[in-house]
Amino acid sequence: MADTASAIKAARRFDAAAIRGQFPILGTRCHGKPLTFLDSAASAQKPQVVIDAVAETYEGQYANIHRGVYDLSERTSAAFEAVRGKARGLINAAHDDEIIFTSGTTESINLVAQSWGRANLGPGDEVLITEMEHHSNIVPWQLLRDQTGFTLKVAPFDDHGVLIMETFEKSLSERTKLVCVTQLSNALGTILPVREITTMAHAAGALVLVDGAQGIPHLATDVRALDCDFYAFSGHKLYGPSGIGVLYGKADLLAHMPPWKGGGDMIASVTFEKTEFAAPPHRFEAGTPNIAGTIGMGAAIDWFQGLDLDGLAAHEDDLLAYGTACLSEVPGLRIIGTAPDKAAVISFVLDTAHPHDIGTVLDSQGVAVRAGHHCAQPVMDHFDVAATVRASFGAYSSRDDIDTLVSALDQVRELFG
Ligand code: ALA
Repeated sequence: MADTASAIKAARRFDAAAIRGQFPILGTRCHGKPLTFLDSAASAQKPQVVIDAVAETYEGQYANIHRGVYDLSERTSAAFEAVRGKARGLINAAHDDEIIFTSGTTESINLVAQSWGRANLGPGDEVLITEMEHHSNIVPWQLLRDQTGFTLKVAPFDDHGVLIMETFEKSLSERTKLVCVTQLSNALGTILPVREITTMAHAAGALVLVDGAQGIPHLATDVRALDCDFYAFSGHKLYGPSGIGVLYGKADLLAHMPPWKGGGDMIASVTFEKTEFAAPPHRFEAGTPNIAGTIGMGAAIDWFQGLDLDGLAAHEDDLLAYGTACLSEVPGLRIIGTAPDKAAVISFVLDTAHPHDIGTVLDSQGVAVRAGHHCAQPVMDHFDVAATVRASFGAYSSRDDIDTLVSALDQVRELFG
């Protein structure tokens, strides 16, 4: 038995070069240079199996779902619904019905705000977020605050980008109804202590929503071990298509949440007098969904789970350590976000050039990074910078990518002095 397990493990041993070969786009060129893709935190590239799954859906197994009595629709419905089980397995949820398909993390968070939040939050209540949240975990709460009158509180991080847990804990009280935190900061790379946060929040009587957009491709995620109440992620950061994602919610919470969008496929019965709503998850899935995208996300989950995930984590840790060491030697370069618990993201500024100019020069060398505020303007405000350059890694990234980035930064320094 042990021999079989180790044989399977050996067969799956993490081989970054072989993985890279599965991504057709990484063989292309930009401005005549080989593409060096260092923007996976914005969106990961897609392996051939995901591209094929989407194409094959349209080529051979596509019809609207849950409606047709004909074979093609039934087969498409089955392929679509099978992805619920794949997503459940990925995050170790207890039931398929706890998996709601959304257009992505942003919609998942807005769903919780406009369904659970509208029904449960009002004047005197508090929602606690952190200073390092992406705008998608700030703005939905501001919109809801202006609709229902609760107070939005913010827990700060220190100058390394580490959440200050003493302040976080002191910000909790019996007024706190919901805590919303990222699992991994997109702008800083900080990994948050989510299990500790859920323990503290639950002790205060608050629920916890985790923004897993950045965490899911890098951190082993078990929603039952984390004991979070809601968990949101996107397909496109997990090597799948864009326009599809997941909201996980504990079954007993979802059962009592009202719909937030009305339409077809979310009802049990409709008359002009009254509509009875479907049970979760369909109650929250009005309208024709992203069918091929969902099936593509299923292929991405299968592909990702087929990797040696310990090997992947070691590979990404190596890239982070190597990238941090190499970039630290670039004169005038300051890394923004130096938490001891970090993953897959290095943000930086150079004293001689604006991040957008750096991004443009890097692009001319075929190096794709993100330059800007990364939809996390409060993080930029904390460090008193307008923007940063961000290099971020995925399974296909390599030390060569980092070497190319560092060489291209030499050109930036030559140009800008
Ligand atoms: N949230 C994505 C990023 O961090 C788009 O780049």
